[in-house]
Amino acid sequence: VTKQDLAGLTVAVSTGGTREPIDPVRHLGNRSSGRQGVAVARAAAERGARVRLVAAHVDEGVLTDALHPRIEIARVSTAAELRQSMHAAADGADVVVMVAAVADYRVAQVSDHKLRKEDGAPVLELVENPDILAELVAAREPGQTVVGFAAETADSEDELLERGRRKRSRKAVDLLVVNRVSHDRGFESADNDVTLVDAHDEVVSHAAGSKRLVADTLWNEVVSLRR
Ligand code: C5P
Repeated sequence: VTKQDLAGLTVAVSTGGTREPIDPVRHLGNRSSGRQGVAVARAAAERGARVRLVAAHVDEGVLTDALHPRIEIARVSTAAELRQSMHAAADGADVVVMVAAVADYRVAQVSDHKLRKEDGAPVLELVENPDILAELVAAREPGQTVVGFAAETADSEDELLERGRRKRSRKAVDLLVVNRVSHDRGFESADNDVTLVDAHDEVVSHAAGSKRLVADTLWNEVVSLRR
């Protein structure tokens, strides 16, 4: 049996990619599969936590891994919906993990009718979405641990770490999972390659392999920093 080292904890996890509507039939989206966040939720549940999983758009079949008696799932679509659900999920949670790929921008004026070709090529004005992770950090409750993810491309390991450290301090999270994105790692892939940076900007661990391995490495670190 799995070690129940998260028993008694309530954790909130977001996953998947948000979709920002353009008109009734179109959206701006991203390639997030939702696999990593679901693996984080599943690992937590198997280690004894109660999990509130906020799932934006995920690939077909991915949510079946989240079917567990201790995982409660809320489905959302846009960044605005994810924001509302994550604030609710974070309320009273011991640990908050933002894995979702939140769109940085949304369309300023969503058309109430389908944009037609006859009207010519549309010019979409974009406006920035709120940084949900930054809001969750600002609203952090006493004793609450907040974890962020950062997908980065980099030419070298040093550059990756430098970017990771800078983002960790900018986001003020307790732990940042720096995710190397390349042709065979990260998005849409079964495997992941991550480096964990703590609140002192120290590299505390590294994991390369399945998204479940990455999830367990994250929870090991959360357990050790909450001790
Ligand atoms: O700055 P960047 O987008 O790389 O940060 C990624 C982290 O911030 C992830 O944990 C992601 O879930 C979160 N995020 C967010 N709200 C946004 C953009 C990103 O919570 N609007």
